[in-house]
Amino acid sequence: MHFATPDPAAELEMSAYEHNRSRTLCALILAQIRSSDHKAIPFSSYMNLALYAPEYGYYTSAGKIIGAGGDFITAPEMGDMFGNLLATKIADSCAQFERPPTLYEFGAGNGTLAVQILKELNRRSVEINNYEIIEVSPMLKGFQQSTISRTEHQISQKFKWRTNLPESGIEGIVIANEVVDAMPVELFCKTQGQFGQGFVVEADSGFGLEYRSSVRPDFRKSLSALNLQDVDDGYYSELHCQGESWLRTLAEMMNSGSILIADYGFPEREYYHHDRNQGTLVCHRRHRLLYDPFSYVGCQDITAHVNFSGLARAAAESGMEVNGFTNLGNFVVDIGMIGGILDKVAEESVHYATQLDKLSSPNEMGEIFKVMELTKNFDSSGLGFNLSDRTHRLGVVD
Ligand SMILES: C[S@@+](CC[C@H](N)C(=O)[O-])C[C@H]1O[C@@H](n2cnc3c(N)ncnc32)[C@H](O)[C@@H]1O
Repeated sequence: MHFATPDPAAELEMSAYEHNRSRTLCALILAQIRSSDHKAIPFSSYMNLALYAPEYGYYTSAGKIIGAGGDFITAPEMGDMFGNLLATKIADSCAQFERPPTLYEFGAGNGTLAVQILKELNRRSVEINNYEIIEVSPMLKGFQQSTISRTEHQISQKFKWRTNLPESGIEGIVIANEVVDAMPVELFCKTQGQFGQGFVVEADSGFGLEYRSSVRPDFRKSLSALNLQDVDDGYYSELHCQGESWLRTLAEMMNSGSILIADYGFPEREYYHHDRNQGTLVCHRRHRLLYDPFSYVGCQDITAHVNFSGLARAAAESGMEVNGFTNLGNFVVDIGMIGGILDKVAEESVHYATQLDKLSSPNEMGEIFKVMELTKNFDSSGLGFNLSDRTHRLGVVD
């Protein structure tokens, strides 16, 4: 997530409406804690409820969350450059299919990226079958429909929403921009030489976190793969069991095509570097970075960076290969050179130059934001990754 220039006058205080919604959500979470066997729920269950509880979760009911008037800004909300870059990559891939492929987008937010991509494909006369959106939030689905209804019929008629992927499997291109970082994570911490799993418990002030030994096989397996035996007590971080399981399912359903994942994150070696001993979990409210996931419950975003090695490994288990992995800065320059986007910056406007700076500068999104392409039975070109393919840094694929 990127932030608009923080408005010093912006109040973090919740409105009366937000207070009510948050109180109801807290009561719902508390009921789950009290009815659980050990009076504690895994952090991932807490995060899932805080973000996605029907009617009260952040993504299901907080209103306008993405954009200058919301809590954070994603790449497509800065302007159409990011969408145009992805469309250039997608146009290149579409040419490899015998028939016009279907595009699938997970978690389409306000629908901005979807429209940018289809407009650009249309401008380039690239044919696709449909653009199908898989969105867990009914509220955001409503925003997407409204954004898409404002485009011309030729474009809007291509959109469909679906709750599941097609049972016959996928032949096409899947896009997930800043979706994996919105999936619930597990927390872990080393105390007295032992790793414990983060559980949310009832506390005087609301909710608290306790680290307990975990019996979950996926948690133990992911943790033991990380080689963290030597870290000091107090080291804590996150595990992405849910994101990896999502990708495993997706990869299993892929017959032929590619998956483009764009998100904040690192390869495993950097993510779990001994010096990064406080993890990456953060919260966003009104363009401020906050660190307490138990504040503003249901009224702030909670997110953790993505372990791209874990995703690559999950995909490989289901027969997918990493076709490329790089940072956004390199991706922009590689595609920009070919698509003429950099020329457009020179010719056109300051607005375009500002977008280019935000997307490519190492101090902005250029280094920390990554793009990974996974393929199965599909001969994708290296477009986007020719300048600098860092797949080897994932430590997963030969
Ligand atoms: C941070 S927002 C990013 C929105 C959009 N992709 C953008 O770039 O503006 C995360 C999005 O992912 C959705 N999401 C989270 N988990 C999902 C899942 N398992 N399947 C589909 N959508 C999901 C959220 O509802 C939301 O639309």
